[in-house]
Amino acid sequence: MPSADLNAPHGGRLSDAQVKDADVASARERAAKLPRIRLSDRSICDVVCLGTGVYSPLDGFMGKADYEAVIAGMRLANGLIWPIPITLPVSDDEIGAVREKGRAALVTDSGSVLATIDVSEMFPSDVAREAPAVYRTSEATHPGVALIANAPKTLVAGKLTLLDAPDFGFPNEYRTPAQTRELFSSLGWKTVVGFQTRNPVHRAHEYLQKVAMETVDGLMLHPLVGLTKDDDIPATVRMDCYRTLLAKYYPPKRAVLSIFPAAMRYAGPREAILHAIARKNYGCSHFIVGRDHAGVGSYYGSFDAQHIFDGIEEELGIAILRFDNASWCNACEAMVTDKTCPHGAADRVSLSGTKVREMLRAGQRPPREFSRPEVADILIEAMAATPEKATPAR
Ligand code: ADX
Repeated sequence: MPSADLNAPHGGRLSDAQVKDADVASARERAAKLPRIRLSDRSICDVVCLGTGVYSPLDGFMGKADYEAVIAGMRLANGLIWPIPITLPVSDDEIGAVREKGRAALVTDSGSVLATIDVSEMFPSDVAREAPAVYRTSEATHPGVALIANAPKTLVAGKLTLLDAPDFGFPNEYRTPAQTRELFSSLGWKTVVGFQTRNPVHRAHEYLQKVAMETVDGLMLHPLVGLTKDDDIPATVRMDCYRTLLAKYYPPKRAVLSIFPAAMRYAGPREAILHAIARKNYGCSHFIVGRDHAGVGSYYGSFDAQHIFDGIEEELGIAILRFDNASWCNACEAMVTDKTCPHGAADRVSLSGTKVREMLRAGQRPPREFSRPEVADILIEAMAATPEKATPAR
């Protein structure tokens, strides 16, 4: 049993839409007779998160009242803080049969049934309101805006039944919130800091994590492995970096590597809240938000994702550990931020994403003060294999 000392889930209760093992076969038989909704890559991630309690208290795709309340005021219709609509767009050719039946099977491109949905409502999306409110821009060059703008405009709401949760290719590191809670309890942890990341780990990440580890029982390294931009480094490579780093530089029993099956939305500040809520559901008491959290391009100020928590942190129920821009200082001979170091930019080892990318592509390790050599070597090898896609941390 997970310890009652762990942080409570958002809204007080973990949702769980997973079918019991014994009932899977009959659930599959029933699902085979239902009209089908083909899931986008983002929706696959959402189904897994909704079905396994990552997005507790949600247990299905949002209806209109929640959709509108979230857009307008960052709250569900019942008043609970919620920053981003979690909705299911359905194409015109699928709508008719789904409406008639009132239920549907949610399938991947390859035809495998992940879940079924009991449809409670269908309503049109409102991209003109959603984009500026959630993403702070309507520009279609923003990857999150592009996703909602290009998606079908009918949204289907309803409770899910999850038949199959893919492990995203990480069977050893896939854990539901119920499972991380079990794990933390078995390790004797009461306070746990969660670390969201979608980029290859570098020294600044490691610094943030280790500073946080000084004050809590344990660290959950939680790389997002769901949908990312095409030019983000693939999750398999990022996980290799983490496994290598953990084995060499982290005390065993103090850090856990687990995957986060969500899709990136690049919504900066609002996504930071979603990331924090999800980690609260996994059992974390603390969550790290550094510079440009979940950002993309120059749509957000570097610390907007920290400011958005001002005034709501206590109600949210997870402590936000805010970090300034971190880098190595040659004069201090340590990782620092402006809060701990009096020296200026000339002493800091900070490289642009473009520069690091160039170095790795050329087979050169960035300075060891920026990136651990073991990590750099994994990235160099990955870039050599897929030169057009691989990019380093920004
Ligand atoms: S993110 O999209 O998942 O936020 P990334 O993996 O780069 O991107 O960042 C993971 C976390 O580390 C985020 O909280 C981010 O704000 C923080 N972070 C990344 N680099 C730095 C840095 N140099 N200084 C401070 N915080 C950083």
